Amino acid sequence: MSPVIFSGIQPTGRKHLGNYIGAITQYVAGQDRGDPAIYCIVDLHATTVAYDPAELRDRVHDTTAVLLAAGLDPERCILFRQGDVAEHTELCWLLTSVTALGELNRMHQFREKSSAQRELISAGLLLYPVLQAADVLAYRAHEVPVGEDQREHLELMRNIAERFNGRFGEGTLVVPEHRIPPVGARVRDLQEPERKMSTTGGSEQGTVYLLDDPATIRRKFKRAVTDSDDPPVLRRSDDKAGVTNLIEILAAVRGVAPSFVEAELAGARGYGDLKAAVGDAVVDELAPLQDRYRQLRAQEQALEDVLAAGAGKARAIAAATLADVREAMGVGPPQPPPTG
Ligand code: TRP
Repeated sequence: MSPVIFSGIQPTGRKHLGNYIGAITQYVAGQDRGDPAIYCIVDLHATTVAYDPAELRDRVHDTTAVLLAAGLDPERCILFRQGDVAEHTELCWLLTSVTALGELNRMHQFREKSSAQRELISAGLLLYPVLQAADVLAYRAHEVPVGEDQREHLELMRNIAERFNGRFGEGTLVVPEHRIPPVGARVRDLQEPERKMSTTGGSEQGTVYLLDDPATIRRKFKRAVTDSDDPPVLRRSDDKAGVTNLIEILAAVRGVAPSFVEAELAGARGYGDLKAAVGDAVVDELAPLQDRYRQLRAQEQALEDVLAAGAGKARAIAAATLADVREAMGVGPPQPPPTG
């Protein structure tokens, strides 16, 4: 049986190589396995921290265009905007009845984000993981491709689904599994390879954005931090975070194993060769994506049309789950008994 695959992506910030290798290429591959593969741009999650409303709309369009440019095909997946499908917020509320306040309070991401807020720590920030659980559970998804940083949120949604089924009816919700990619979860900042590449908290020079021009991309790789091993050692190792990162990026964009890249590098003179090779490979990988992005991004109505069509398909699935959840919880009028 083909799995139902679901993932959500933030419309905030500029997408970078870590997002691409860790999430976006997995989304594209998921289109062949998922039945269906469902991808949601989570504008409602973006309202849990300080934000600008007009900018949010722009960021949703940016993200939609990036995903389409990277190879998501609206004929082969369901791509939609969270705020278009009201079932997410309704299910979020219903799931609060099986969510422990203590669990939400302990979430690492809540603790980090709330201490970073200068003005208001919104209740939405606390409920963020419940909305995320609703996103997935509304589609009875089996698989959730996400990065390592989402492990805790995935555990919580599994707890919520199990508790719901135990309290209101076994089999009502599907308990999802996470799918954390082996390499992409680990793409590192080029300047500070001890930390992951990230829009928040990473270094500008160490973060390769998908829309950086070729010269910028090559420069960022050229200046990547490696180590002072003399002679240079072009191999992965725990104490060589910078070199390991470059080898893994090169392997990921070329679609080969890191050991293959290491074997190829046997004749290289030094780290400069590795940096040039990975810079070139990333430029080659991103050039067609950037071209398609520019064409797609210019046509906002076409982007809205794609999102609207996706929302229609998403709503049909989510509405069926919500009907079962409401019935199980005794909310609203009784459902007519199934006919036939
Ligand atoms: N919290 C996720 C992130 O920051 C985004 C997200 C929202 C998500 N809803 C989801 C991921 C559902 C997977 C499934 O990356």
